[in-house]
Amino acid sequence: MNKNKLIIAIDGHSSCGKSTLAKALSDYFSYKFIDTGAMYRAVTLYVIQYNLIDSENQINETELRKAFEQNLINIDFRFIDRKKISETFLNNVNIETEIRGVEVSQLVSPVAKIDFVREKLVEQQRKMGQSGGIVMDGRDIGTVVFPNADLKIFLTARPDVRAKRRYDELISKGMKVTYNEIFKNIEERDFIDSNRDEAPLRKADDAVLIDNSDITREEQLKIAVDLINGKINIK
Ligand code: DC
Repeated sequence: MNKNKLIIAIDGHSSCGKSTLAKALSDYFSYKFIDTGAMYRAVTLYVIQYNLIDSENQINETELRKAFEQNLINIDFRFIDRKKISETFLNNVNIETEIRGVEVSQLVSPVAKIDFVREKLVEQQRKMGQSGGIVMDGRDIGTVVFPNADLKIFLTARPDVRAKRRYDELISKGMKVTYNEIFKNIEERDFIDSNRDEAPLRKADDAVLIDNSDITREEQLKIAVDLINGKINIK
C-alpha cells in the first residue's frame, strides 16, 4: 500500500470537529482535504440566492434540478496562499464565510435530503478522491462515497459540548447568536441527518468510534495518526 494514497473517511454528528480533525490529518500526512459539508452548504446558498425556497422552507426541486442539469452550480475548493487554507467557491465566488452563517446552517439539512443533490455531489466527491491521498469528512463518506476507504473514523461528542464549541466559535467571529438557538439547531440537524431516507448518518460497521467530548484536539489527532500509521504498517 502506497502510504501517500490512502483514503481516510471521517463521518459524524454536526459540530463535533470533523473538519478540524480532517484538516489536521491532511496537514500531517500532506493529503488533500475535502469538506463535503461545505458542498451541501454551497448548494443551499445557491437555493437562497436564487429564491428556490418558500416561506415554509419548501424547496423548488424542479428548478434546482434544472440548475444542476444546466451546470449552473459549480463548486470547487481553492487554496488561499495568504491564509494557507482551502476555501469554498461557488461559481467562482468565494463563499466560505457566507456558508458558515446561521441562515445556511438552518436550511442545509432539507437541501441535503434531496436525492438528486446527493447523487450529483457524491459523484463529484468520488472523482476528487479516486486517486487517494485524501481525507474527506461528511456524513456518508464511509457508508456511501467510499465504502472501501482505508480508514473510517466516526466522530462524535455530547450535544451540549458541540453546542458550546459552536457558540464560542460564532461569537468569536462577531456573529449575534444565542446558545439556545445553536443547541436547538444541532439537535434538529442530528435528527434530520440520522432519520432521512437518503444516506442517513450512521456509523459504518468497520468505522472506529471516537468521542471527543473529554479529550483535547491534540489527543484526538494522536489517536487518528496512530490509527493511520497502523494501517500503513499493516498494508
Ligand atoms: O458538516 P457540516 O455541518 O458542514 O454539514 C452541513 C450539512 O450537510 C449537514 O446538516 C448534513 C449535510 N451533509 C450531508 O448530508 N452529507 C455529507 N457528506 C456532508 C454534509
